[in-house]
Amino acid sequence: MKMLVLNGPNLNMLGKREPGIYGNNTLHQLEEGLVNIGQKIGIDIVCFQSNYEGALLDHLHQAEEKGFEGVIINPGALTHYSIALRDAIAAIKIPVIEVHISNVHAREEFRKHSVTAPECIGQIAGFGFYGYEMAVHAMMNYLGKRG
Ligand code: DQA
Repeated sequence: MKMLVLNGPNLNMLGKREPGIYGNNTLHQLEEGLVNIGQKIGIDIVCFQSNYEGALLDHLHQAEEKGFEGVIINPGALTHYSIALRDAIAAIKIPVIEVHISNVHAREEFRKHSVTAPECIGQIAGFGFYGYEMAVHAMMNYLGKRG
C-alpha cells in the first residue's frame, strides 16, 4: 500500500518560517517521521514538496498510475485560491485528505476559506505535524485497511 504526501508553497521553509505558528521542526523531519510511521504500520509513504502549483498538479494527476491509493496534501496558501488545485483533486479517483499545521480557522479571515477542501474526503487543521499522522490513520480507516 502506497500513500503520497504533498506539501505546497513555503513548506520547505518549516523550521525557519514563523516558528510561533508552524514550530521549529523542518520539512525533512516531518517527512522522515512520516516515512518511519509508514514503515511501522507496513505502508510505503512517499513525500514531495513544491513551491510550484503545476508540479503539485502533475503529482496528483500521476498518483493513481504510480500506484498510490491515497493522497495527503497541505496545499499551503494555494488552499485559499487555487481552483486549478481544486480541479486536480476533483479529477482524480483516489481519496485526498487536506492537512494544515496551524488552525486556519483561528487566524486571518482569508485563511478560513478553503477552495480545495470540498473536493477532499476531510480536513485536519491545528494539530501541528501530528495532523499528518492523523491523516495517515484516517486514510487507512477510509480505505478499510488496518494501520
Ligand atoms: C498552512 C496554512 C495556510 O494558510 C498557509 O498559507 C500555509 C500553511 C498550514 O499548514 O497551516 O502556507 O497550510
